[in-house]
Parts: sequence; C-alpha cells; structure tokens
Amino acid sequence: TVLVVDFGAQYAQLIARRVREARVYSEIVPSTMPVAEMLAKNPAAIILSGGPSSVYEEGAPRLDRELFEAGVPVFGMCYGFQLMAQVLGGTVDNTGSREYGRTDLHVSKAASTLFEGTPVEQHVWMSHGDACSAAPEGFTVSASTDVVPVAAFENDEKKLYGVQYHPEVMHSTHGQQVLEHFLYRGAGLTPSWTTGNVIDEQVAAIREQVGDRRAICGLSGGVDSAVAAALVARAIGDQLTCVYVDHGLMRKGETEQVEKDFVAATGVKLVVVDAEARFLDALAGVSDPEQKRKIIGREFIRVFEQAQAEIIADAGPAVEFLVQGTLYPDVVESGGGTGTANIKSHHNVGGLPEDLEFQLIEPLRKLFKDEVRMVGQELGLPEEIVQRQPFPGPGLGIRIVGEVTKERLDLLRDADAIAREELTAAGLDRSIWQCPVVLLADVRSVGVQGDGRTYGHPIVLRPVSSEDAMTADWSRLPYEVLAKISTRITNEVRDVNRVVLDVTSKPPGTIEWE
Ligand code: XMP
Repeated sequence: TVLVVDFGAQYAQLIARRVREARVYSEIVPSTMPVAEMLAKNPAAIILSGGPSSVYEEGAPRLDRELFEAGVPVFGMCYGFQLMAQVLGGTVDNTGSREYGRTDLHVSKAASTLFEGTPVEQHVWMSHGDACSAAPEGFTVSASTDVVPVAAFENDEKKLYGVQYHPEVMHSTHGQQVLEHFLYRGAGLTPSWTTGNVIDEQVAAIREQVGDRRAICGLSGGVDSAVAAALVARAIGDQLTCVYVDHGLMRKGETEQVEKDFVAATGVKLVVVDAEARFLDALAGVSDPEQKRKIIGREFIRVFEQAQAEIIADAGPAVEFLVQGTLYPDVVESGGGTGTANIKSHHNVGGLPEDLEFQLIEPLRKLFKDEVRMVGQELGLPEEIVQRQPFPGPGLGIRIVGEVTKERLDLLRDADAIAREELTAAGLDRSIWQCPVVLLADVRSVGVQGDGRTYGHPIVLRPVSSEDAMTADWSRLPYEVLAKISTRITNEVRDVNRVVLDVTSKPPGTIEWE
C-alpha cells in the first residue's frame, strides 16, 4: 500500500486515484495521524499531498522527522514538498509572492529518477506562496522555475523526493510519468494492482461475514448500487434480495433493464415494487421543485421500508445485512473511518421491529468510480448499466418544469430516449458527463407543423462535461448531432414543437433545471 497523507484541499483523492491508475494500491490517511501509526501500516511508500497552508502559519500541519528516517520512500508535493524541505533542514522562504496556475518548469537534471525521459521544458501546475530556495543536505536539485530556484529535489540514497508543483493534475503535462517514476524507480514498486483482486477479496470477506444469514439491497438503477449488489450476489447468491422501487419517474426502458438484464447477468433475487400510481398521486398539483423532491424522497423511503419489512417478515434466516454502494470518496469525505458502521434502520414503518439494526456491507468503499465500473464489467454487468451516466434519484420528476403527470412523463420519456439514442450513435457517451432532457411543461410555444399552427412545449437539451458534478461546462456537441436530435424530437414527439440548447455552465446554473 502507498499511503497518501492528506494535507487538505481535495488534492489527496486525486493523487490516490493517479497512484491506482499506475496500478499500485493506495489509501488516504489524514495528516493528523501519528507517524508511528502510519509506519505501523507498513507502507511501501508515502506521498505527502499539497494543501492550503503555509509552513509558516501558526497551526499549519506538521510532520515528525522520523517519517523520513524509517527507510520508507517518500514523495512530497507542493505543501508536502515544502514541509519536507523544512523538516530536513532546507530553506523555505516566506516570499509573500504567489505563483498560481500553469508554469514553465526547467528540468536541470534530465537523467534523474523523477524526470528521466521527460522533456527539459515542461508545463506544470503551481499553487503556492512560499518557495524553497535551498534543498536539504544530501539532495540534488533537479528542476526550477523562473520564480522558484528549487522546484524539485531528489535523494536517491534515502529514497526521498519532492516537487513544488502538482504532478497529479492534468495541466502538469508529464505529471503521471513523474509520479510513476517515483513509484517504480524511486520506491521500486511493480504495477500489479487490479480490480480483479478486489472481487476475489470481497467475495471471500462477504461470505465469511454473512455466513448463512441474509442481506438486502436497494437498487436505484445507478452504477454503484448495481455493482455492489452484483458483487454481493456473487458471494452469497440467493441469500441476497434486491429491492427496486419503480416510482414511474424512470427513463424509457430503465426498469426493464434492471428487471431483465441485471437479473440475467447476476442471477439476483429481485423484488420490483410498482409504485407509480402512489408517486403520481402524491405529486398531483405540485410544481415547486423543492416540494417535489421532498415528496419523492418521502414516498421512496416509505415504499422501500414496506418492502423491506415484508422480506424480513417472511420465514427464513435472519436478514441482518444491508448492502450499500458507498464509494471511497464518500468514505474519505466523511472522515475516512474504518471498520463496519452500524446504522439504525428507519423504524417509523409498521412491521419493522423498533430496535432492528442492520450491519452494512459496503464492498466498494475502497474504490473510485472508474474502478467500480471496471469491477462491474468484470462481473459481467451489461454496458448500459456499467457506463450509465448519473441520473438523479427524483428522476424525471425534476425534469418537468411544472406539474408532473403521466402524460407529460411519457412525452419526456420519448424525447429523452431519442436524445440518448442519438448521442450514443454519435459515440458521445464517454465525452459528456450527462445530458438531462427537460420538458418545459409550463411554457408553450407556437409552431407550424404539417399544415397548421401548433401550440406546444419546448424541450431543453442540457449536455454537460464535468469531473465531479460540482462544476460543469456545457458540452460543445457537433451541430449535426444537435440537428438530428432536434428534427427527430419535433417529428416524433407529439406536442413538442421546439428544441432548445442550454449553454450555461455550472455555476451559475445547476446541472438539473430543478
Ligand atoms: P445539480 O443539478 O445540483 O446536480 O448541478 C449535480 C449532480 O447531482 C445529480 N442530482 C441528484 N442526484 N438525487 C440524486 O441522486 C438528487 O436529488 C439529485 N439532484 C441532482 C445531478 O443529476 C447531477 O449529476
């Protein structure tokens, strides 16, 4: 394991992902973890992340010198680099001047461990205030910038390395290569980690954990819950029951996909609850987006708990486990705790014992999204499920501006299916993050179709590119593809006489319209 020490500000996750891309297993630990505890994990190497602090700030995170004396290879980046310089006796100047963004790096020692085979001039991503002006004793300076005299240093004998910039971000053109040089050449690691190992490990662990008892899992139709369920099904077969609530707000073919393709691929025992009427009743007359979300969330929990109670009430071994598709970023963001958490089940539904507690099975809690997709693929899940784009829990309910009715849902489903079909046909699925299709049900527009005037509704296309949905840009789709989608939707979908394109980034717009 390579430990990535997190000094804050989101960099650690990206580094951990890049290390895994290099096929070396990595885990994130907080910078507050005592060095002895880090070393007790027997790390093959340690990477110190960047962070927002200055080494001169009061209360800035520190590191014990012993970390560098344990014989474990260490790679410091940005703040990690400065900390390393300071602890080991180099000079870090509190310059006050800042260097942000794309910077030219001058490699002065091309044959070094880190820079071997990379160009003498390369673009890197900088973000720092302080600067290192003298490397610690025993270190060779291998790169500089116009502003920073020591932008990289290396000590092959002690296997200690550092760079002032962020090799993990895309804008550092040879960043991945430099990182791999540290892992393979500096630390002597071999690229051998694969998601295949995860499946074997998890299957064995889940079998041991569950024994002959039973587990349940809520399927949303999304990637994470599907892969988690498939993995648990591989381990315990029909001791797992999946529950899928069809709230009638899914896109065309999605429920059938879960019912047929997912079951076919996994052999899982699936209970589909048809709750369309219940949801539509609850949503009748409601146009306010927040109110819609609340109603959908509330009904969802009720239906799910009822199904859960029925499964638990039947004769058979105890149902003690709840499967969840929690991913590594969720774990890290919520404090990175290890061990199995116990959650109390909602006990506001008749039939469920007051004090019932489930143990969680979270087989994906060490994986990033792209790794989950790989696991899904290896488990034989269909491409349409594994490569599915994010789809909000409230479904099409928040893609109809205005009241949600069955008729409007059917109309939107048709338009959405056309857009998805054409985007897939054009090979654009991987380049866009997601493409909500929105029906402006409260807006009417005049058109001319056939020989007559029509008074219909506009459909909005909202294709976006993003890395994490926190920010997004509108996707520059080819005009021909947009034209085809527009022509088909206006020809094939009754009541729609206009297709418009949303060209707003996030912020200021959110991805969804409601
Ligand atoms: P926004 O619209 O906030 O969406 O920019 C960001 C991402 O989250 C998805 N989204 C949701 N997902 N339940 C979900 O599971 C929700 O209530 C929900 N609202 C938005 C949205 O599709 C996008 O990927």
